[in-house]
Amino acid sequence: MNEEQRRRLQDRMTRYYRETAVYHQNIDDTVGEVRPSDEEKGLFRALAARCMAERPSVVELGCGRGLTARGILSLLPGATYEGYDASPSAIALAKKAAPDLRFEVADIAALRLARPADVVYANYVLEHTVFPEHVLDACAANTKPGGLLGLIVPLGDLPWEIPPSKRDRRRDVPYRVAFALSRTLHLLRTRYTSHVDPSIIDEPIALRDDAWQPDDDLVYWSSGIELVKLARQRGFDVAWATGRPLRAPREGHALDAARDRLQRIWRVTASPEVPLTTTLSVVFRKR
Ligand SMILES: C[S@@+](CC[C@H](N)C(=O)[O-])C[C@H]1O[C@@H](n2cnc3c(N)ncnc32)[C@H](O)[C@@H]1O
Repeated sequence: MNEEQRRRLQDRMTRYYRETAVYHQNIDDTVGEVRPSDEEKGLFRALAARCMAERPSVVELGCGRGLTARGILSLLPGATYEGYDASPSAIALAKKAAPDLRFEVADIAALRLARPADVVYANYVLEHTVFPEHVLDACAANTKPGGLLGLIVPLGDLPWEIPPSKRDRRRDVPYRVAFALSRTLHLLRTRYTSHVDPSIIDEPIALRDDAWQPDDDLVYWSSGIELVKLARQRGFDVAWATGRPLRAPREGHALDAARDRLQRIWRVTASPEVPLTTTLSVVFRKR
């Protein structure tokens, strides 16, 4: 996918988020998860433990309906909160639920605040953006020096794993092989190149299928190595990282040993800072 095609896809995605009023209700009905989730609580605790500012300013990028705002505020006494999202319907719901907090419609890839914040976070957002590198530019521009950036992102570091957005191709063997090969190549390239490889940005099912499933709007299947590298180039260092582990079907399964072996290789060859997991929760500190 070239730059022009990416821009066209971005326009369609923006329209999708603007016009798909049912999107956030669907997430609720289908996922039915308590928010903030345990994963999010873990990230918030890690942010709160490392935040050095008194009465910190907190900015959430891609806040949706603002379901986690109270969760993070309860850990940061005196903090202020602002949430930004592309979806007017989600922002309207957020404002209704929490009229005392500030929520605005914005393109987070282009967002430049008058005052950078002490804490910026984006949960389950980067993988939905066509220009993730621009979102990371915005994270850098909107985080104070010494401030924190928290991200939760599903990872595509296991090349043979088909992401939910491509579930309709699961039984298509030639597609699976091509997908695994292109991911493997991408993972190798991310070690040596300094930009997002647009060939792994894909048209999501959400734009061509009426049936809605969570993550049908997944566009960018990110890699842990790439994420750390892109963040580092923008002045961030890893302060903390964890993730949803790869789980064997039952204890003592051969997959346990395979996972341990993979984890060791991963740490030596790819990233000593970021664990090999299916979802990454990471806190960066801005230099
Ligand atoms: C999977 S939802 C996650 C929402 C929220 N963080 C949560 O966990 O409930 C992804 C969100 O990213 C927002 N989004 C995607 N691209 C965006 C962009 N360029 N600017 C602003 N918001 C964007 C969508 O509107 C959507 O609300």
